[in-house]
Amino acid sequence: MKIKKGVIPAAGLGTRFLPATKAQPKVMLPVLDTPALQYVVEEAVRSGITDILIITGRGQRSIEDHFDRSIELEAFLEAKGKFDELKQIREIAEMASIHYVRQKEALGLGHAVSVAEAFVSGEPFAVLLGDDLIHGSVPLLADMLRVHEKYGRSVVAALEVSREEIAMYGCIEPEWVEENLARIVSIIEKPAPGEAPSTLAAIGRYVFTPEIFDAIRETQPGRGGEIQLTDAINQLAQEQAVYANRFDRGRFDVGNLFDYLKATVELALEREDVGPAFRAYLGEVAARKKLL
Ligand code: G1P
Repeated sequence: MKIKKGVIPAAGLGTRFLPATKAQPKVMLPVLDTPALQYVVEEAVRSGITDILIITGRGQRSIEDHFDRSIELEAFLEAKGKFDELKQIREIAEMASIHYVRQKEALGLGHAVSVAEAFVSGEPFAVLLGDDLIHGSVPLLADMLRVHEKYGRSVVAALEVSREEIAMYGCIEPEWVEENLARIVSIIEKPAPGEAPSTLAAIGRYVFTPEIFDAIRETQPGRGGEIQLTDAINQLAQEQAVYANRFDRGRFDVGNLFDYLKATVELALEREDVGPAFRAYLGEVAARKKLL
């Protein structure tokens, strides 16, 4: 059976991106002219997901407004004859069936996912972190869903990072079974570089069997006193196979200023409208600042 349900935890506070995130959800930060979360929803939809549950927190109503119809704005655009813009904003509201639930307390990513249990009703499902942008013509989640179809088990997206960077991620101890596919022997949340069993990092795309909810229930608060999804995955991996699917497409954490800048540049270069002029501008800046 094809996976149709996706869960997007989006309640993160974005403390690394203040003051922009003081009164605005991190996932609504625009990359070019589109909120980060919209790229993530589009990736889910392009991967065949039709039902999406977004897990929000307090003060995040702009997320719901963004994926809703905007009758006033539509009437305004229609009256002004701005039909391209009208089509664009109508499409946002029609992309998928989107539902919302509030995570009442920020108890960790594992807890946020557990809030989705009733929504997924005992079926395998996808999780996409709302602040991880994955760039590429083929959506990463679609590849992971194919792995799930083949093995019938949970799949975690994985990326090679440096020894210093691994301390910011869930770190996977892999047992390779195919070129880019490993069975997860263990996974630990944000290890010190000296203690990391590898430099293979878990990235914000997951496909889970419903047993993940039992594992989350058994998970005690871990790193930072939070219920960590990583700890629940580690538990699940001891009970049934969990796979790590390595990829090498562009991945940007939009809650991180440097990654945010990189995402802006890479995406702008590919845009048909501003791309050519922006490319020329970058060349001119590089020459002026003697970067090359
Ligand atoms: C979360 C997860 C971590 C994962 C990362 C990917 O961390 O806890 O295991 O590697 O997302 O982006 P966060 O970035 O929320 O600190």
